[in-house]
Amino acid sequence: MKVFVGTIVHSTWEEPMNILQNTALGVHDSEIVFIEAAQRLEDLKTKYSFIDSDITYLTSSQFMMPGMVDTHIHASQFPNNGIKLDLSLLDWLNTYTFPTEAMFSDVKVAQCVYPKVVRLLKNGTTTAAYYATLHLEASKVLAQVVHDRGQRALIGKVNMMVNCPEYYRESSITESVSETEDFIFFIKKLQTPLIKPVITPRFAVACSLDQMKQLGQLAKKHDCHIQTHLCETQAEVTWIQELFPWSKSYTDVYDTAGLLGAKTIMAHCVWIEEQELKRLKECNTGVAHCPNSNISIRSGHCDVRQLICRGIKVGLATDCSGGYSSSMLDSLRRALDVSKSLSIQRQNYQFLTLPEVFRLATLGGAQVVNMEDRIGNFEIGKEFDSLLIDFEVPRSPLDIFDKDTLEDKIHKFLYNGDDRNIVQVYVAGRCVINNKNCT
Ligand code: GUN
Ligand code: FE
Repeated sequence: MKVFVGTIVHSTWEEPMNILQNTALGVHDSEIVFIEAAQRLEDLKTKYSFIDSDITYLTSSQFMMPGMVDTHIHASQFPNNGIKLDLSLLDWLNTYTFPTEAMFSDVKVAQCVYPKVVRLLKNGTTTAAYYATLHLEASKVLAQVVHDRGQRALIGKVNMMVNCPEYYRESSITESVSETEDFIFFIKKLQTPLIKPVITPRFAVACSLDQMKQLGQLAKKHDCHIQTHLCETQAEVTWIQELFPWSKSYTDVYDTAGLLGAKTIMAHCVWIEEQELKRLKECNTGVAHCPNSNISIRSGHCDVRQLICRGIKVGLATDCSGGYSSSMLDSLRRALDVSKSLSIQRQNYQFLTLPEVFRLATLGGAQVVNMEDRIGNFEIGKEFDSLLIDFEVPRSPLDIFDKDTLEDKIHKFLYNGDDRNIVQVYVAGRCVINNKNCT
């Protein structure tokens, strides 16, 4: 048993940011077993039979929050983080992104790049929905690295066959489906509940209907998650109309292929229309909001308030390297910027608040990856995926003053904090990053 006593901050559906002071949180193996007022510590000791040495007292400059969920990230694009953002999506893919991903045909590139995903853990991303590349061997390297580091993840071998360069495409539907199934078997062999395969048709521009249908069947056969891109740019939406002239909409293409469902993650959804939103809601399909990417490659502003009002599941994502930062704290800040920008353009627009984006980064993300029953906050019975935050570390980027309330300090961390303030990271009860031994 591990017990943490101090300030615990998390979201519920009733309250976007619940700040619980003097609270005791008990973890047995990977699971949260109690969260109660610290005054009850003596009773709790008897009830759950733990001893003083099992207890960690957080200092007055520390708090615990849930780990963050990156609902859409291209691990293979890490080498391009922070560069080459002068083109819009379709040109950006052809000019910069496909050549970079194609390098992963050499498994040594994967062995060099993928260990850098540990940066995400340091940044507080305890769960990530990854795109690898179309290469089976390199995708296995990503899965192995994530497994070794102890992160929770969905990992997808990318599928793409049409409207993409000859040097970077799968050669047939048969190969696409059989290699994807081999990848599923590889992940199953890792025998970890933390990593799941995700079927990853890149986007409908790059896949034929037949390919998407067969991948949809594969997802059903193995009860897999599915992830793809939807309505990211206007040019892409126009192209989809030309490629699938029979379709009612972009969403209708995926619907016809059998790809919508509660375990499907749709990235972007910027240029999405009424009927399509209704369909996402009916299918309980989640949206990965990628604010940095949507600004950096100038795709557009996603109206997250509208998604929330319609009851559509929505989480945050970095989408690097379309987004230049792989930090979820950046995604949370950019989500605020985009929402406030919309409120400048539209009268009476209700912009997102900081507590709301905190919830999107944690509980919202858990919902989008369809793991709300396991992660996202500190409810009893969930897995302990958690960050220990400290305002007062050496070289802290935060300026804290005597006048600051606890809530102010938490807000300051969310706006100006970074990995220096994230002193410990836990995934399923296991400490995977430890920068400081707290007493
Ligand atoms: N649409 C298809 N592929 C990609 C990608 O790699 N990044 C982004 N942002 N959009 C895409
Ligand atoms: Fe993307």
